[in-house]
Amino acid sequence: MNYYLLGYPVGHSVSPAMHNAAFKELGLLHRYSLLETEPEKLGETVQGLKENKFGGANVTTPHKIEIIKHMDTLAASAKRIGAVNTIENHEGQLIGHNTDAIGGIKAITLKYGELTESRVVLLGAGGAARALAQELAPKVSELVILNRSPDKAEKLARILPGNTVGAGLGEQQVVKTADIVINATSVGMTPNTSTSPIDAGYLRQGQLVYDIVYNPIKTKLMQDAEKAGAETLGGLWMLVYQGVESFKIWTDREPSAETMYNAALRVLEAWH
Ligand code: ATR
Repeated sequence: MNYYLLGYPVGHSVSPAMHNAAFKELGLLHRYSLLETEPEKLGETVQGLKENKFGGANVTTPHKIEIIKHMDTLAASAKRIGAVNTIENHEGQLIGHNTDAIGGIKAITLKYGELTESRVVLLGAGGAARALAQELAPKVSELVILNRSPDKAEKLARILPGNTVGAGLGEQQVVKTADIVINATSVGMTPNTSTSPIDAGYLRQGQLVYDIVYNPIKTKLMQDAEKAGAETLGGLWMLVYQGVESFKIWTDREPSAETMYNAALRVLEAWH
């Protein structure tokens, strides 16, 4: 079976390496490849895939919302988030799923344990932050969303359940008392590797600091967190676990997250 990544552009992606390594390890004769798809050709491309009996696909920027109209049904995850990153081809019926946030939360849970008693500070209110916030809000004991534009954080917090508040990055002293700090902004991403969204003085031992940025592998925020004695988790794990969840939807098999991580890491290292 053939699996694809639909995006535009898709030149730089670790997904083929990740999925092909897992297919190989499990002895599955599948192939995952990049399928660069211009926005105006999205419908035509999906129709073509359907006719050729593809196994499934991942969907990335800029198609995650637009793809919805080409799906036959949406899984609860995609409905909740309002975006699709995984297409399941179920006997010709296309089902849209979203594994981004579920994968991200799984990466945190495996490192931290259950989230029910935790106080979480989430930085950002863009697409990635919104998806994570929706999964976190009903699970954690307190969620504080901080964003450069405070109104976006406040608006997001208002529509979420649980003990959830939104504010500006100027309120970042709340990080001091947080159990988990998550960066879901693009601050610190290559080429701006010397920047961090949080003042290092607020980080402390006993915290988990999770940066969804995966390029570089170790961001300035993670370096600051390590120096402060906090635990860290890099964004490549979020990418790997969204891949693990997509893989399970497509094959009903559990791939090795380690295998996928190592394959992705090799690709990232080769870029530098
Ligand atoms: P994504 O889909 O990756 O989440 P996005 O929707 O463009 O991307 O969101 C980017 C996030 O990073 C936003 O929260 C943005 O803050 P604003 O809402 O104020 O724009 C945040 N961000 C980007 N550059 C930033 C910077 N230099 N300082 C602080 N926050 C920044």
